[in-house]
Amino acid sequence: MTNTMTAYRSALVHTLNNPAHCKIEDAYEYYADGLLVVENGLITHAGDAESLLGELPVGTEIIHYPDAIITPGFVDTHIHYPQTEMIASYGEQLLDWLENYTFPTENLFKDPEHASRVARVFLDELLRNGTTTALVFGTVHPESVDAFFTEAQHRQLRMIAGKVMMDRHAPDYLTDTAISSFEESKALIEKWHNKDRLAYAVTPRFAPTSTPEQLDAAAKLLTLAPGLYLHTHLAENKKECAWVSELFPENRSYLDVYDQHQLLTERSIFAHGIYLDDDDCCRLHKTGSSIAFCPTSNLFLGSGLFNLQKMESHKVNVGIGTDVGGGTSFSMLQTLQEAYKVTQLQQQRIDPIKSLYLATLGGAKALRLDDKIGTLLPGTEADFTVLDLASTPLIKARMANASSITDQLFVLMMLGDDRSIQATYSGGRCVHQR
Ligand code: GUN
Ligand code: ZN
Repeated sequence: MTNTMTAYRSALVHTLNNPAHCKIEDAYEYYADGLLVVENGLITHAGDAESLLGELPVGTEIIHYPDAIITPGFVDTHIHYPQTEMIASYGEQLLDWLENYTFPTENLFKDPEHASRVARVFLDELLRNGTTTALVFGTVHPESVDAFFTEAQHRQLRMIAGKVMMDRHAPDYLTDTAISSFEESKALIEKWHNKDRLAYAVTPRFAPTSTPEQLDAAAKLLTLAPGLYLHTHLAENKKECAWVSELFPENRSYLDVYDQHQLLTERSIFAHGIYLDDDDCCRLHKTGSSIAFCPTSNLFLGSGLFNLQKMESHKVNVGIGTDVGGGTSFSMLQTLQEAYKVTQLQQQRIDPIKSLYLATLGGAKALRLDDKIGTLLPGTEADFTVLDLASTPLIKARMANASSITDQLFVLMMLGDDRSIQATYSGGRCVHQR
């Protein structure tokens, strides 16, 4: 964390409420000429430059980003770091994709050096894309999680991750047991959970690759310390759902499998959730569980169209996940672009302010971190992103016709990518400068 006070002069925008449940005007704050004041890694002020400049102690450094917008750092609520180097693998849908590409790739993470190298590439890529916090899958190897947390701790980032638990229906070289997964996860929790800005997520891959005994072990792990997360996949693909009904014939639904094993909590994040009925949505709401909407992955793997409106009507927490390597981009802007298209195909539409909410405060709320990240409010951590309004010739040309902050955000979401991230800050430190 930095010890000196620094002020950033730029346009500022952040959300304070979910636009699904309030008037748009009440959902966000915008300062066309804003000042963000940071001290000791925390935001102390965010507001109009004109009124705040006079209050700054003499000699405070002021960094100008004149043709830019500062937003809270993006929050990626579902991603696999071991799949970084298999992104964009051709031709399959979920179950074959797992068998043909994912499992062989994940096997490489038994080697700690390989894991460390990929963790570095992965974190560089997140920061290049303005993402400051992510909920991250490791592999079944505890070494993969050690490598990830070591690198994230070194960079003083706020990250959540966990070891995959998988004791059936996967190659022998990639399976653990209910007992070994419990012991290995427990050791990782003791080593990493709540160390600096890190937290641990208990991570059964998905219902088909865990026995009921392993799902029980996951629930027991959640009781070992306060603040532990549950991170898994849910109802992503039709064949997967049919397989779950075969494997768990007693359960009413896919979600019910997790529910029966006490895995629905306020800190449970389920990736995808495309094939859910009203009862499932009610359970998600009632238990305070969250869904990671992963549009690029859902389109790339041909999984289906996530129904955001249905989740909103049930007041289910939703964040955005890139789901790399099933997802095709680390860029939250590109992911929001696909999210917009997914809703368009269902006669819905995501307002740009709602997109900003989903990528920042919505994700922070899903992770129960909204007192620390997701806004530019005083007292929160200075994790923020500087979006360049002229990062490509086309964006620059289109921005000339953008008449409002919502229009500017929309253009960035439809046309922007890593090139639009001018700088990324974490805990008040610049962790990426384009
Ligand atoms: N379901 C189980 N494992 C995975 C995975 O690695 N990626 C995705 N997208 N879905 C899964
Ligand atoms: Zn995934």
